[in-house]
Amino acid sequence: MGNKGLLKRSIEIIKTEGIGTFAKKSTFYVYRKTVLPILVPVISYKLKKEVENIKDVEDVVRFTFTFKYLGFNIKPLQIFEEILELAKLVSGLEPKVVLEIGTANGGTLFFWSRLASDDATLISIDLPGGLFGGGYPLWKVPLYRSFAKPHQKMYLLRANSHDPTTLEKVKELLRGKQVDFLFIDGDHTYKGVKRDFEMYAPLVRKGGIIAFHDIVLHPPETGCEVNKFWNEIKHNFRHEEIVKDWDQKWAGIGVLYI
Ligand SMILES: C[S@@+](CC[C@H](N)C(=O)[O-])C[C@H]1O[C@@H](n2cnc3c(N)ncnc32)[C@H](O)[C@@H]1O
Repeated sequence: MGNKGLLKRSIEIIKTEGIGTFAKKSTFYVYRKTVLPILVPVISYKLKKEVENIKDVEDVVRFTFTFKYLGFNIKPLQIFEEILELAKLVSGLEPKVVLEIGTANGGTLFFWSRLASDDATLISIDLPGGLFGGGYPLWKVPLYRSFAKPHQKMYLLRANSHDPTTLEKVKELLRGKQVDFLFIDGDHTYKGVKRDFEMYAPLVRKGGIIAFHDIVLHPPETGCEVNKFWNEIKHNFRHEEIVKDWDQKWAGIGVLYI
């Protein structure tokens, strides 16, 4: 947000929520921007220490939703019951290679790292300032990297997934290996999700899984059109729909078995 945007938002908060709320929110904003980045090693240590002995899939997912320390969290932008079902599928697959499009808060990336094999390669792509979440600031890079277990490799690509050079970079990192699990949760426009599928699905091995987030019909103003693409392709594959409530107006996960 630029200075003008910040000023506008501040006036809005003072008008609608009062000066007390504004003072609280602005203090937390300054804390997030200036202090939190310095605390990365502490947060990372705490995160690892707390998750160390959690092995059960449900407990790992629950932990990711509830972890909070020094005002920091890694809450996934997901519905708990839905992502838990997907997490169980991924855990059963024990992927050696995971590719994620849409890192955001790092929540899903965190549990992919826990559920993948101990020597897995994990690649997560996110476009700084991208639509449908806005990416993540640079200071979070060392934190997300620290999600990796000792023998895992974690690559964070802060780039547009639709850019052919991003695909080239992914192929370079894979060094001929195929992807076991591809999670598509980046650009949710029809064109965007179609492009991600067309570019990255060929990297997935036979027997692997591709999952799409947000297959439920969203209100048009959100710009989310994943359902349109999902309904076009799902019948070409053995597939599964993990949806808590078809009227929930967001989320919903579509799984393709390759
Ligand atoms: C809904 S969020 C991802 C949520 C995350 N997977 C989770 O469940 O917590 C979508 C992310 O996709 C990113 N994004 C949007 N368009 C993109 C693009 N063309 N390339 C890469 N990332 C993109 C946004 O920056 C945003 O952070």
